[in-house]
Amino acid sequence: MLYLFIIRTIPEPVKQGVATASEGASERLECPQANRHRDSDVTRIEIRRPDDWHLHLRDGDMLSAVVPATARVFGRAIVMPNLKPPVRTVADAGAYRNRILAARPDGSRFEPLMTLYLTETTTAQDVREAAESDFVHAIKYYPAGATTNSDSGVRDLERVYPVFEAMEKHGLPLLMHGEVTDGDIDVFDREAVFIERHLEKIRRRFPELKMVLEHATTADAIDYVESAPGPIAATITVHHLMYNRNALFEGGLRPHHYCLPLIKRERHRRALVAAATSGNERFFLGTDSAPHPKHAKESDCGCAGIYSAPAAIELYASVFEAAGALHKLEGFASLHGPDFYGLPRHEEKITLEKSDWKVPETVNAGDDVLVPLRAGGNPGWSVSAS
Ligand code: DOR
Ligand code: ZN
Repeated sequence: MLYLFIIRTIPEPVKQGVATASEGASERLECPQANRHRDSDVTRIEIRRPDDWHLHLRDGDMLSAVVPATARVFGRAIVMPNLKPPVRTVADAGAYRNRILAARPDGSRFEPLMTLYLTETTTAQDVREAAESDFVHAIKYYPAGATTNSDSGVRDLERVYPVFEAMEKHGLPLLMHGEVTDGDIDVFDREAVFIERHLEKIRRRFPELKMVLEHATTADAIDYVESAPGPIAATITVHHLMYNRNALFEGGLRPHHYCLPLIKRERHRRALVAAATSGNERFFLGTDSAPHPKHAKESDCGCAGIYSAPAAIELYASVFEAAGALHKLEGFASLHGPDFYGLPRHEEKITLEKSDWKVPETVNAGDDVLVPLRAGGNPGWSVSAS
């Protein structure tokens, strides 16, 4: 990664809604290299092209509206299969992949990496076909009822153990929405309870199964992934790095900060920042950018999901800067993910520069509009060459 120390142009990293958020994180970081220079002196960095290891692209008009925001900077993305109906088979994934490729801007080489949606009727044969295809890269586990379009998900994990066995055998990663849905478990505890009740059991039973704990949100998840033996990793979203749960209630109810798993307490946010900026290769970038129309978010029963793609890499840069860890951004964004998935790292680079710009207030999507993360705000960094 190339650093350029130029004049200090931009005085302050942008405060991201939670007044104390980024300051707290940098205080806690114990990163000797961060002390070699102040990240506020760095105004330009060059990193290998990043990938997004967790992305929702939807379908139809929404698909065409959102693909360009990701394709402008990310080389590849793991595309979530929670369409309605879900992407269950290799044939479904192939057809969806073609629709995504058709939605790319002219000249784009963005590559969608497809996933299948795990149901209780998924078979070992489906797994074999997925492993033999050159475009399905993983299978996604949703607990039934946990989130958007998860009704076809799994109710009883033991029923899909034969599928896990086949995935372990074929080296196909299991991507987990790691939450329990029991009504007696507090919604803020769903991830920690999933780890305790299910994740450890799966890991022991299938020690060679490659697993990704998607959108890790708690210190519990970080501790588990750091210390578990075997091939396990976690993606971390930019919104969980930027905000603590106060952001859901700041001056009123904030539907555009509502996602699942929910944003957690400040101590969890700090643990996520520490993990993302640690250089540990088990942690990598996954935005979980999940567009919903504005009216569906701002409703008496609003949808879960944050549309972060329009400023994703810029906001990650701002978080890493605030943590004094810009030198760790390339590993997190561009190296650890491909290494885990066994894919080549990109050769091309992108350049990020400190500069002022405004995230659009809204983005048109057919007859709907989307409200991006930090709408109207200044991420403080922009992509100057990609
Ligand atoms: O907030 C979320 N939105 N979490 C998910 O797990 C799904 C996603 C979506 O598809 O909207
Ligand atoms: Zn997701």
